[in-house]
Amino acid sequence: MGASVRWVGLFVIMLSGAPAFAQSVEMGAEVFARCAICHEIGPGAGNRQGPQLNELLGRRAGDLPDFSYSEALREAGQNGLVWTAETLAEFIARPRHFEPGSRMIFRGLRNPAEVEDVVAYLVSLETPDQVASRTGKALVETYCGACHATGSEDLGPHAEAPAFRDLHHRYDVGDLAEALVEGLSSGHPDMPEFEFDPDQAEAVIAYLKSLE
Ligand code: HEC
Ligand code: HEC
Repeated sequence: MGASVRWVGLFVIMLSGAPAFAQSVEMGAEVFARCAICHEIGPGAGNRQGPQLNELLGRRAGDLPDFSYSEALREAGQNGLVWTAETLAEFIARPRHFEPGSRMIFRGLRNPAEVEDVVAYLVSLETPDQVASRTGKALVETYCGACHATGSEDLGPHAEAPAFRDLHHRYDVGDLAEALVEGLSSGHPDMPEFEFDPDQAEAVIAYLKSLE
């Protein structure tokens, strides 16, 4: 038991490249006890007073279909609020200030070290690939979903806009990365021009590849 715990610890250190991160994760798991009054996380987690927090990084705020969120949080997600290490840290420090109207009855963690630790804990539960793909999904739902089908079987709202799951039949979607950063335009009058930062472009590509 002792030995295997040490090995897991070592693995986390190797992945993150920083012993401080592993320590932060451990402390964060303890801080999370305060969140666990309202939130479940891990296999089989369900909604309680607060929504379950699995697959959180890269998820749009207020996006679980089976939880009854405040109007404020759901709208923030529709307007592009996605959970990242940065947005989570802000929210957890001051839930009400960050999102007036949020129903999370929690005054927030005032100690920045605790915020950092609990975010490190939440980040440690997922792999970068999973997060990138989920972030890409959130981005295309927000910016492209008004016209394109963005999922694995939905019908797009705009008849002439191709479903994203079909793009790879025409070309390697990896080739889109540059266009997404430099400005993607289809030449179609209905499609506005988009520019993403390189991380966002990478996330969009990761998601498009996951549809293939
Ligand atoms: C007293 C109960 C309570 C506590 C304690 C609490 N939360 Fe929440 N949390 C909620 C509720 C309720 C919501 C939904 C808020 C809304 O709809 O505006 C929420 C929403 C969230 C969300 C948004 C999830 C989504 O699907 O968009 C995150 C992230 C979150 N909480 C993290 C935390 C963390 C981390 C802690 C501990 C530091 C914590 N919460 C403590 C009740 C709580
Ligand atoms: C307002 C509607 C609209 C929005 C929003 C929109 N598109 Fe489009 N898009 C279109 C239409 C219509 C076409 C078909 C253009 C054509 O046939 O030349 C298209 C074509 C494309 C194509 C070319 C497909 C091909 O095979 O040639 C790509 C790639 C694309 N869109 C990506 C995106 C991405 C990524 C987003 C979000 C960042 C987005 N679009 C948002 C309307 C839209």
